[in-house]
Amino acid sequence: MPYQVIIPAAGQGKRMGAGKNKLLLKLEATPILIHTLKVFEADPECLGIILAIHPDDEQEFKSLLNEYGIHKVSSLVTGGKERQDSVYNGLLAVSSLDGIVLVHDAARPFIKVETIHKLVDAAGKDGGAIVAVPVKDTIKKAANNQVAETVERSSLWSVQTPQAFRASILLEAHNKAARDQFIGTDESSLVERIPHPVSIIEGDYDNIKLTTPEDLYFAEAILRKRKESGL
Ligand code: CTP
Ligand code: MG
Repeated sequence: MPYQVIIPAAGQGKRMGAGKNKLLLKLEATPILIHTLKVFEADPECLGIILAIHPDDEQEFKSLLNEYGIHKVSSLVTGGKERQDSVYNGLLAVSSLDGIVLVHDAARPFIKVETIHKLVDAAGKDGGAIVAVPVKDTIKKAANNQVAETVERSSLWSVQTPQAFRASILLEAHNKAARDQFIGTDESSLVERIPHPVSIIEGDYDNIKLTTPEDLYFAEAILRKRKESGL
């Protein structure tokens, strides 16, 4: 099933502490941004990539797209203050509101194309779907470092991107959030408030978001494992 993808890449990477956008850091000689874009460039179902960027990165990102032969970027839009603003600007560039739109963090380079396809199919049926993995740790609620409650783990999921929606539903969710001045940490939280149901596709634990410096060690290990298994 065909889809368009919005890729928010306009962050500053503060927690990575690299002194520049973390997406420019290299893994096995290739920038993180390019690792992510290559997945969609190679997927025939992906009709186009809408990339949200910070104006300071524009020149460097454009030259990387050229250098690595990324041709599917149909729109470069300016990112906003919050990730949600960057996604919204991307959403305004989507060509058809009847189609499926994915949102995927540029900082998650290890997404598998099989997971993308399962997700898009689910969103095609239900209007909204997200990729998540079961929580492995025991999770507790606390106040002032005092345990208040142990949360039943079997119902908890750790949520990733991509998240996929019928574009008209995601736009409605964003417009409502803007009206209510609601800022969520993912697209699903906006869609849930419509309310509209969102289904879960179980993904992989290696679809990590590269956030802090130690994530780069995990990233190198994931790439090594994939090389060894010929992926
Ligand atoms: N992002 C964005 N616009 C923003 C903030 C974030 O497009 N205003 C993007 C980032 O570039 C990243 C994704 O959203 O691909 C997930 O955000 P996160 O991992 O938090 O990245 P940063 O915001 O760059 O990092 P930090 O929060 O540590 O500054
Ligand atoms: Mg951030």
